[in-house]
Amino acid sequence: MNISILGFGTVGRGVYEMIQAAPGMEARKVLVLPQECTESFMVTSIDEITSDAGTDTVVECMGGIHPAYEFASASLKAGKSFVTSNKALVANFGIELQALAEEKGVSFLFSAACGGGIPVLHNISVASQTDSILKCGGILNGTTNFILTKMQGEGKSYQDALFEAQKLGYAEKDPSADVSGLDTLRKVMLLSSVSFSVLPAEGLCREGIENFTSSVADYLSDEGRTLRLMGECGKGEKGIYAYVEPVAVKKTDVEASISSNINYAWYLGENSGLIGLSGQGAGRYPTASAVLRDLSAIMEGKKSMLGKDCVRGVADNSGKECRHTYLLCCDGRFEKTPELSVSDMHEMVRSMREKGSRVFFAQYR
Ligand code: HSE
Repeated sequence: MNISILGFGTVGRGVYEMIQAAPGMEARKVLVLPQECTESFMVTSIDEITSDAGTDTVVECMGGIHPAYEFASASLKAGKSFVTSNKALVANFGIELQALAEEKGVSFLFSAACGGGIPVLHNISVASQTDSILKCGGILNGTTNFILTKMQGEGKSYQDALFEAQKLGYAEKDPSADVSGLDTLRKVMLLSSVSFSVLPAEGLCREGIENFTSSVADYLSDEGRTLRLMGECGKGEKGIYAYVEPVAVKKTDVEASISSNINYAWYLGENSGLIGLSGQGAGRYPTASAVLRDLSAIMEGKKSMLGKDCVRGVADNSGKECRHTYLLCCDGRFEKTPELSVSDMHEMVRSMREKGSRVFFAQYR
């Protein structure tokens, strides 16, 4: 297998290095920006890769939606298999890229786009061939888990913890995607597309950790709880549901033991029951290892991981599977709500904020 790589940042470098040691794989060219072009294997135009007859597979680790989408399309149209770690790309254009890959008879895989080194998409794509996946989710963002661990375990400030996560290469280029829950939401969209053949593009609910403060941390600690940011999607009474929100878990819950950049992804199969996977969810080599896993799966003949005939859909978070009690802190006052649906809770908080209140909330388990 002859592989060219788009991007030479945290993940791209890791992929390049790992390919050197992988049997049956050769690194061909690496696409970089003109000011980064310092080695003979580096190129600055995508055409040099799409027109390279020696390249059979392209790995994209640039991030962002444009020009990643244009480069992905060009690679697939040129008959190259395509592997990406880019959640934003797949959440927005996974269906179009899958259609192109099918037309050209090549592979399109993206297991590095959710869970870092954890093979959650890979496993679900295999499990869903013979079992019905009912729901899935977990702690899917290493940066926020790192921040929450540092704030709650070591008393670090939000800003210091975020800065450290950036230095360690966990955070996105624009870390607001991490802390706002957008990165987790994109991963939930991918989980849904692989598990249920529905890529939910509307109706999604999202809350991040930007409003988490040390006074909330102290309150939770007194209640024997700790905060985690989690996403979930599933087949509900009203169709597919999909959302991201902070969850106050008991200190004895499995999620409370997931610290630092570790992710914990789970799925519930009708026959398998609950399967949980944990491991490093961000960082150079964990993410690169997931890319290499996809490359090796292509060598064994795997063509796709998106669910069969996947379509875009609208999530509905108002059903009975989405009802929870919440901890609500409005302008410094704490209260627990009665059971509310995710969509009602997120709508209520949106309207409180519109009126000028400072609000933190978390699902209270
Ligand atoms: N910024 C992401 C995270 C990288 O922190 O999880 C891995 O997807």
